[in-house]
Amino acid sequence: MIAGETAREPEAVDAAAGIDIKCVGLTKTFRDFWLRPRVRAVEGIDLEVRRGQIYGLLGPNGSGKSTTIKMILGLVTPTSGRIAVLGRRPRDVASKQRIGYLPEESYLYRFLSARETLDYYGRLFRLPSRVRRERIDRLLEMVGLDAVGHRPVGEFSKGMQRRVGLAQSLINDPQLLILDEPTSGMDPVGARQIKDVIADLGRRGKTVLLCTHQLSDVEDLCDRVAIMFGGRVRAEGTCDELLVQEDRTTIRSDTLPAEVVAEVRDLLARRGIGHIDVERPRRRLESLFLEIVERARAEGVQTSGAKAGGSVAEFLKGPEATDQAAVVGRDDTTRPASAPDSTSGGVDSNLIESLTRRQP
Ligand SMILES: Nc1ncnc2c1ncn2[C@@H]1O[C@H](COP(=O)(O)OP(=O)(O)O)[C@@H](O)[C@H]1O
Ligand SMILES: [Mg+2]
Repeated sequence: MIAGETAREPEAVDAAAGIDIKCVGLTKTFRDFWLRPRVRAVEGIDLEVRRGQIYGLLGPNGSGKSTTIKMILGLVTPTSGRIAVLGRRPRDVASKQRIGYLPEESYLYRFLSARETLDYYGRLFRLPSRVRRERIDRLLEMVGLDAVGHRPVGEFSKGMQRRVGLAQSLINDPQLLILDEPTSGMDPVGARQIKDVIADLGRRGKTVLLCTHQLSDVEDLCDRVAIMFGGRVRAEGTCDELLVQEDRTTIRSDTLPAEVVAEVRDLLARRGIGHIDVERPRRRLESLFLEIVERARAEGVQTSGAKAGGSVAEFLKGPEATDQAAVVGRDDTTRPASAPDSTSGGVDSNLIESLTRRQP
C-alpha cells in the first residue's frame, strides 16, 4: 500500500462507484432444529443494483426472492457470500435511515388511522413533529388516501393497505426503496398510479429494488431484471437485452389497403422472405380499462375508497449529488417509456422537475 493511503472497506468502494446494492456469491441454507441443512433458499447469487436504477427481481413462489431481500435488509444472516448496501454491511444501523421497505404483507395496526400509522413510523425515524405533519399530508395525497386518512387501516381494502405501506416506506425520504409486491391486491387503476409513482421516484434518482409477480409492471418500469428460480439467477439484463427478438422485424404503419399489403408480400417474397404475418395490432387491456374508468370519473360517477393519487411528494429528494445523471450513470435508453398509454392522469413531470431543481 502507498504510504498515506488508507485501506477502504469494499462496501465503501462499491458505494463510491455508484452501486447501491451488491451481492457476491450470496447463499442461504435454512437449517432445521438439529442444525441439519434443510432448504437451499438462495445459492450463490451475484447482483448489482446501481444508484438510480429500478431493478426487477422476478421468479415464481419459493425461488428465493424474499430471502434475498431479507438478507439485503440484514433481517436474515447469509450462510456465505458478501453484501454491500449503500456502502455498508446490511446490519449497519446507519444505512437503515436511508432505506425504505415495503414488506410482502402489510403489517399495520388495525386500530390506528392511516395518519397515525405514518406518524408512528415518522417517530421511529425521529422526525420532528412539523416535518412529520408535512410529509404525512403530502404522502397521503400522493397515494390517494388524503380523504380517508383518519379512518382505521383495519377497515381498508387490501389495495388501500398497500398504499399506506408505500407511504410508510417513503416517510424517511429513503435513497433506496425495497418493494416486495407493491401492487398486489390493487385494481388496475391503483396499480397504474403506484407504477407512475415508482417511475417518478426512479426519475428522481431513487434506487428501487422491485420484487413482483406482475410481469407487466416490470416491463413498464424496470431498467434491469433478474429472473430467479430454485435460489439461482437464471437470467439477468436490461428488458431489451432479454426481450428483443433479434430474428424478427415489426413494421408499424397506418392501416394499409389490401393491394399495398399484396405488393409488400410480393417484394418480400422476391427477397426470399416467405413467412410474413400481417395483423391489426391490439391495444393493451390495461389501457382500455383505464380509459373506461377515466371516462366514468369525468362523467361524475362516484365511488368510495381510495381516490386517484397525486404527484410525488416534493420532500422526496434525488440523491445527495447535484448532477444526478452523471452520478447515476443512468442509460436512459434502457429505461422503458413509462406509462405508454396511461390515462390515469399520472404525475406531472414538469412539476417534478421544478420541484427537484429547488432541492439543495
Ligand atoms: N425461515 C425459513 N425457514 C425455512 N425455510 C425457509 C424460510 N424462509 C424461506 N424458506 C424457504 O426458502 C425458499 C425460498 O423462499 P422465499 O425466499 O420466500 O421465496 P420467494 O420470495 O421467491 O417466494 C422456499 O423453499 C421457502 O420455503
Ligand atoms: Mg416472497
